Amino acid sequence: MCGIVGYKGNKNAQEILTNGLSCLEYRGYDSSGIAYFINNKIKIEKAIGQIKNLKNKINYKEKSNLGIGHTRWATHGKVNLDNCHPHQVGKITLVHNGIIENYGEIKKKLQQFGYEFYGETDTEVACALIDYNYKKTSNMLKAIKKSINTFIGSYAFLILCSDECDKLYATRNNSPLIVALNNEETFLASDVPAILNYTNKYYLLDNKDIVKIDEKINFYDENLKQVTKKIKKYEIENINISKGKYKHYMLKEINEIDDVVRKTVAPFIIDENTFQSKFNFLSKFEKIEIVACGSAYHAGLIGKYLIEKYSDVNIDINIASEYRYKKHKFNCKTLVIIISQSGETADSLAALRIAKENNAKTLGIVNVYESSIAREADDVIYTQAGPEVAVATTKAYVSQVAIFSLIAMYFKSKNESIKNDLKDLKNLPEKIRNILNKDFQKFAKLIYKQNDVFFIGRQIDYALCMEGSLKLKEISYIHSEAYAAGELKHGSISLIDNNTVVIAINTDKDISLKTISNIKEVKSRGAYVIYLTNDKNIKEKFYDKLILIDNISPLVSPMLAIIPLQLISYYVANLKKCNIDKPKNLAKSVTVE
Ligand code: F6R
Repeated sequence: MCGIVGYKGNKNAQEILTNGLSCLEYRGYDSSGIAYFINNKIKIEKAIGQIKNLKNKINYKEKSNLGIGHTRWATHGKVNLDNCHPHQVGKITLVHNGIIENYGEIKKKLQQFGYEFYGETDTEVACALIDYNYKKTSNMLKAIKKSINTFIGSYAFLILCSDECDKLYATRNNSPLIVALNNEETFLASDVPAILNYTNKYYLLDNKDIVKIDEKINFYDENLKQVTKKIKKYEIENINISKGKYKHYMLKEINEIDDVVRKTVAPFIIDENTFQSKFNFLSKFEKIEIVACGSAYHAGLIGKYLIEKYSDVNIDINIASEYRYKKHKFNCKTLVIIISQSGETADSLAALRIAKENNAKTLGIVNVYESSIAREADDVIYTQAGPEVAVATTKAYVSQVAIFSLIAMYFKSKNESIKNDLKDLKNLPEKIRNILNKDFQKFAKLIYKQNDVFFIGRQIDYALCMEGSLKLKEISYIHSEAYAAGELKHGSISLIDNNTVVIAINTDKDISLKTISNIKEVKSRGAYVIYLTNDKNIKEKFYDKLILIDNISPLVSPMLAIIPLQLISYYVANLKKCNIDKPKNLAKSVTVE
């Protein structure tokens, strides 16, 4: 993960760098730092924690026009100032996003040449290697090229050399990096938000390209042959992202879900009875492999259950970090669907590349425009969630489920009427709004002092349990587990005793009685049961508290059922006074494997 920014121009570099880092803080917030030239010398400032701590340390009156910055999500070494970027070894100062996998080997060799290391990071070792090669070649381009020939792993580097106070170098491999321009100014960044306040024109770097910024922007390929690049334009308007009236971005984003669903499904629906056949291409596939991480995986799991119900296509669902290492059996009738909010998740991107190398067709379901997965997939469907700032995904997750709900409707429409499903989909935003207006704090009060919470459900409800459980643990730090309701008695029911909170989800009438039996099993062992259902006619009281949602088409219902779970997690974390938008140890965009 990590966010990096670089600047060369006529404005105050410290200000542009720290503002850029604030826009990239979602990529990591363990520590941050900047390095800039001042009177031909490099000055470095670093701070632990959020960017505001760094901003407090910086003297903005100093006049600098060139510098680099970094916000860290620790991969190698503790969160301390020694491991915080920028790193400086000899004449080289740099920031890095990615992981140099063979840094241990490189470190040993450099130690033999007399290099000593102050921290534990792979980045410091990379910095030392570039310094070593610079000493040998006295040429930065050659030193960078030689070094990247040695590195194994992913990286985006921004590099300064103390001999060249008017130049900035950069290179990348499998980590995102853009070079943006505005008249005489050049900006470098991991991601577009960092530059949107200044320009929307940018270049994309290919893997192993090197860029040298002096009076102009010079691009070189990995053989140091100078190349030209096409300017791209970011067309989405620069939305002013703020919390508005909400205490946290997460709460704001949950409250946007009704609108997000409306926007995401709109392009696919012609009118109340007619469904756009944008999914016709799906008919030619015999197998669909869905691949994603975290919440996106949970959205995919719902997709699998829904599509399987209405089609004969074989659907396989995979965690991206596992998918990469399994034995693949692709053929020309296999479609690989990669789901990713950020479009940059390293494991999902790697899975996409494996599928492409094996000639499988790929479809990205992505939220961020022009992100790596959106660019590299054969086809892309954009979810219309808009920028999601809170680290825990809510609205983007629901927009991913919305796409699968549409795909399942497409398959259903081949054999049955989908009139009622479409009607429910159209009315869904209003039903979501009704839930958003309800009070879920009372449920949070029952949970926030617990050490463990269990979520149980079957089939799609089980997939919802997985997402509900992830949301709770990631933002409130309460341990929780999601169980297929029938599976608990095969071991984990031994953990249930008096007042263990169990959140039971039961929205599928075909298997409702089975789930009720499982709820009775935990209830009779003392569990405190919060029961989420769409069944208005409950005959007996086998639960303690009830959350009743509307009974709508099963193709649409998951988008409604998840909202109470998101809100309960939010209010639990709020009662515990957690850092809800930036939970500890997490980052929004997971660009390491
Ligand atoms: C949890 C969460 C993560 C992401 C996962 C994949 O709230 O946000 O589990 O869903 O890291 O990220 P994307 O969708 O960007 O590939």
